[in-house]
This record gives sequence, C-alpha cells and structure tokens, in this order.
Amino acid sequence: MSDDEIKLHRGLREVYIDRTTSSFIDGKEGKLYYRGYNIDDLAVNCGFEEVIYLIMNGELPTVQELEQFNSELHSSMFIPDPVIDIIRSIKHAHPMDVLRTAISALSAFDEDVDDNSLEATLRKGTRLTAQAPTIVTYHARIREGKDPIPPDPSLSLAANFLYMLFGEKPDPRDVALIDKDFVLHAEHGLNASSFGARVAASTQADLHCAITTGVAVLKGPSHGGAAESVMSMSQDIGSEDNAENYVKETLSSGGRIMGFGHRVYRAVDPRSLHLQDDLKELGERKGEPKWYSILQRVVEAMKPYSRRGIHQNVDFFSGAMYFLLNIPEDLFISIFAVGRVPGWTAQVVEQFENNILLRPRLKYVGELDRKFVKINDR
Ligand code: COA
Repeated sequence: MSDDEIKLHRGLREVYIDRTTSSFIDGKEGKLYYRGYNIDDLAVNCGFEEVIYLIMNGELPTVQELEQFNSELHSSMFIPDPVIDIIRSIKHAHPMDVLRTAISALSAFDEDVDDNSLEATLRKGTRLTAQAPTIVTYHARIREGKDPIPPDPSLSLAANFLYMLFGEKPDPRDVALIDKDFVLHAEHGLNASSFGARVAASTQADLHCAITTGVAVLKGPSHGGAAESVMSMSQDIGSEDNAENYVKETLSSGGRIMGFGHRVYRAVDPRSLHLQDDLKELGERKGEPKWYSILQRVVEAMKPYSRRGIHQNVDFFSGAMYFLLNIPEDLFISIFAVGRVPGWTAQVVEQFENNILLRPRLKYVGELDRKFVKINDR
C-alpha cells in the first residue's frame, strides 16, 4: 500500500473491530443494553449480582441459579495474606495503582491462572469481581492505620463494600445506591479499558493480565477519573449562583466540563439519569442538597452544547453521590473499576472465543536512511 493510500483512523473513532453480544450503546437515542436488556429495566429491578450473572453468562438467572452464584461470589471475597502484605507495602500509592498491583498479584494464587477455557475464565472473573471490593476497602483502611474488616459472606457485594470500608453494617438506602452504581458501570461497549483488556486477551494472555490492563487504562481522567474531577469542580464552584460563570470561564479558556461529553453518546447518557434522581434524594437525606443544585445549574449552563451532542455522562452525578456517602475522593475511580470487572471478563471471553491478534499499524512519518555515527564519534 502506498503512503497516499493509507487512511488514518486516529483514536479509532467509528472503527468497528469485531462483533459482540455483551452490550449495545445506542448513542443517538441515549440507550444502553446489557445482553439485550435495557439498562432502565436492569437498574430498577436487578441487584449487582444478578447483572454480573447476566453479563458473564448471557442470560438472567433463575432464583436458584442466583442463589448458587451468590454463594460462589460471596465466598470468593477473601484475599490471600501475601496479597494483603503487598497492599500494606504500597499503602501510600493511589488506590487504582494498589488495585492494579493486587489484581496482578492475585494471579500467583489462582489455581486456574493459565487456563483460558471458557469455564476457567468465568470462574476467575467471578473471583476477581468478588475480590476487587476487598482489595479497595482493605487498602482504604490499612492506609488510615486501621485493621481491615474481613468480608461478611452473608452480605451483598455492595453492602460488603460499605461494611468493609466503614466497619459498621450499612444503611440499606446507601447499599441500594452503591448497588445501582455497580450495575450502571458493569459493561459499556468497546470503551478504552475494555479495548485494553481485549488487546491483552488477543495475545492469549490470561484474564488476570487482561483485567490488570483494564484497571490501568481506566485510571485516566478521560475515562474513569472524571467522577473525582466533577466533585473537585463542584467544590470549586461552591454555590449554585457561581455555576454559570464557572462554565463560561472554563469553556472560554479552552477547558472542559468534566462529566460531560462521550465518544459514543450524542444524547444524555441514560446511566446519568438514574444517578441524578438518587443524588437529589441522597442530598436531601444528608442535609446537603447544594451539590445536586450546583450540578443542575451546570447542566443548564451547558444546554447550548447539547446541540453539538455534548451531554452529561455517568460520571457527572456519581462523584457527588460518593462524596455524600463519605467515600474518600481518590476511591471514586476504584468504585467504577469494581463495577466494571464483569464487563471486562465478558469481553475477554468473547475475544478468546473468536480470537484474532489485535495489532493495528502506525504510519511512519520519521526520517529514513540516516547516516549512522559510532558512539565515540558523536
Ligand atoms: N466540555 C467541553 N467541551 C467538550 C467536552 C467537555 N466535557 N467534551 C468534548 N468537548 C468538545 C471538544 O472540545 C471538541 O470540540 P471541538 O470539536 O471544537 O474541538 C468536541 O467536543 C469533541 O471532543 P473530543 O475530545 O474530540 O471527543 P472524544 O470523543 O475524543 O472525547 C471525552 C470524549 C469523554 C474524552 C470528552 O468528552 C471529555 O474529555 N470529557 C470530559 C471527561 C469525562 O467526563 N470523561 C468521562 C467519560 S464517561
């Protein structure tokens, strides 16, 4: 192919690399489906465990199937002592770096590590989904000089997350919020971290490698980091009266409003609509309605941008919700990561089932045939 014939697809925008049955984003209409089910139905009617089962197995579970899956998941939440020691030894690091390192380390203790069969990959995906909240909460306590609180297998993953973080049995209303948040983050097309996980899987590396990659890619502010940035933005805005000016000044100086915009959605991200109502209620319950009001004023100030397809995304309301639940801000991305483990697993399974090495090309634009000079003569 001649140089002129090469067509660049920077950012792989609008490039389709394969087929999937895991999730579908209708960006024009603002709809999201997991395995063909509308997120609006799942967010209102299903717990995270039910959705994990759906994403990993392709079907909603029966009552009995869910019971058995729950017991598998909840008994897999414990992590081995050497991994806890690793968490202790890097406790000063960012929670996402700790999560990435601990998931990588868990591979050394997983009996299925090298087995890329469907059954083993699903078993590992189930274990990693269960272990991720334990890693995040153990680290959060260890870095504060507190003892980790072992998971309680009788509690859901969402309830355990809050229990292991704060050390007391959580308010069921708070559990419901975290549960829904996990559901809303569970799977989302070929986002950057799922693409990263697929690239790892395409070399026939194992699930631990792929999910370690997924966590690494998720960390950036253009992907999972936005919730934290939205909360800092709300704090900078301070009161609803400042929202419009803040938006104007940020945009006129070439900045971006965090929690807005998306590569695929040209309509409002349906996940943000679920979190919006939850945040309003939570703010009123906690006696801090101002965060919701500030964010609503930002939405109003961004109205002119909706004509260009720039709307609020899932991260826009989630940050304030975590903040009102007293979750430290640097844990926000980790919550996203915990929710996304089932989606990464499902995509790795798909990649393995019809594998092809993901290996695109770069157009070389540097010099050629430069005169080589030996090191002592330079
Ligand atoms: N605020 C203001 N303008 C925005 C914007 C935002 N949050 N997001 C996109 N835009 C504008 C860009 O400035 C660009 O304008 P231009 O065409 O005049 O240059 C246009 O929309 C397209 O942006 P681009 O960065 O090319 O789109 P993308 O598909 O590559 O980026 C995101 C998608 C998510 C990275 C981007 O919207 C963003 O940075 N959002 C903020 C971070 C965020 O919320 N991330 C979480 C995603 S779930």
